[in-house]
Amino acid sequence: MNRYSPAAVLLLSMGTLATASLTMAQTATSPATAAKPQEVINQDEAHVGSLPIPDPLTCADGTRVTSKEQWLEKRRPELFKLFESEMYGRTPERKLEGLRTEVLLENKMALEGKATQRLVRIYFTKADAPHLDVLVYLPNAASKEKPAGVFVGLNFGGNHAVTEDPAIPVPQGWFRNNKETGVTQNRATEASRGADARRWPIAEVITRGYGVATAYYGDLDPDFDDGFQNGVQPLFYKEGQTKPEADEWGSIGAWAWGLSRMADYLVTLPEVDDKRLAVLGHSRLGKTSLWAGAQDTRFSIVISNNSGAGGAALSKRHFGETVNKLNTNFPHWFNGNFKKYSMNEAALPIDQHELIALCAPRPVYVASATEDLWADPKGEFLGAKLAEPVYALFGKKGLGVSEPPAPDVSVGEALGYHNRTGKHDILLFDWEKYMNFAAKNWGN
Ligand code: GCU
Repeated sequence: MNRYSPAAVLLLSMGTLATASLTMAQTATSPATAAKPQEVINQDEAHVGSLPIPDPLTCADGTRVTSKEQWLEKRRPELFKLFESEMYGRTPERKLEGLRTEVLLENKMALEGKATQRLVRIYFTKADAPHLDVLVYLPNAASKEKPAGVFVGLNFGGNHAVTEDPAIPVPQGWFRNNKETGVTQNRATEASRGADARRWPIAEVITRGYGVATAYYGDLDPDFDDGFQNGVQPLFYKEGQTKPEADEWGSIGAWAWGLSRMADYLVTLPEVDDKRLAVLGHSRLGKTSLWAGAQDTRFSIVISNNSGAGGAALSKRHFGETVNKLNTNFPHWFNGNFKKYSMNEAALPIDQHELIALCAPRPVYVASATEDLWADPKGEFLGAKLAEPVYALFGKKGLGVSEPPAPDVSVGEALGYHNRTGKHDILLFDWEKYMNFAAKNWGN
């Protein structure tokens, strides 16, 4: 079976892609009156597509990659360019003048004296332009001699939502309305304090000897389609430019850029180990952590939690969310060029295992949730699995299994995977696996 109805499959084979998903009834009408193509969403393993998955080790000119040098010098750059130009968009290279940090608050006796908590504002340019408030917890046991590894990730609900701590101010920027967390009229309120704490087990991370740095993703680019006026993109517009070019970054690109600015700050701290920064994210922010990890090699571990389509899940499998759904529901996430692949995954020159492979030989952990079919747990597993040949070039072991493991079982060495029982979320269970993975790969 294919993603399209039988009539459409026939049309496809005749090469009329634009009308590919018309149903039987619709094909009887004249093209002029034909309804807009309807997409078939598949969540049945028996009906996954049969599109070929690209081989990460075959170069565009047909050369076969057999060494890590060839990968790093030839194949990786060409794949990287494709992810930039066709999907996430180019990140501007220009360094902003006026980038500086200011400590807004510091508590050296946080978490019963176990941690130092800091809220740090990163100004990108002028004070009234977008800026990023980073909430950092570092174990007090860490020192210049014994610096700590840090988990770096963006949050959905604001810094005040990751902890009950009343010291963290409620942010003033745009938030997605959410009855459960008390966000109304696109503004966060006191009611959302601590609302995301289950996703940020800070005390447990500190107990394991690691630090945590998080920031609200909307500080970088509010998560709605405003034509790229209110985030960091305008800071980089050339004279006369009003929106990113088709191959330039969208919101995911801006969020990933912000993760690198967090890394810029963290590596200046003596009690932070600059060789041990793990970037992590959930869902759309898992897509973001993978793209940040692909671009910024200072992230020595990359973690994707339930990132799904446009993250760790293969696009060409046709299971769960599709390229068309991403582009229709969230037109601002990816770049303009990515729109070409809506209902046309066959034309995509890349797939998501190759994004994971861009991180090699740095370790990548991918996690799914059993009830999160929209994110395609098997497709996420395969995203990691099919990156293995690239890790093998570096003598690194990947998942070590050929089939997805049973729920809640964590597998792998330089590539890790688990499928947590339950819903789309990031919980202590997931964090425990990430910390074990970090301990194994960082050797501490
Ligand atoms: C939607 C979207 C996903 C995304 C998720 C999230 O479900 O379709 O692609 O990962 O939101 O970010 O929570």
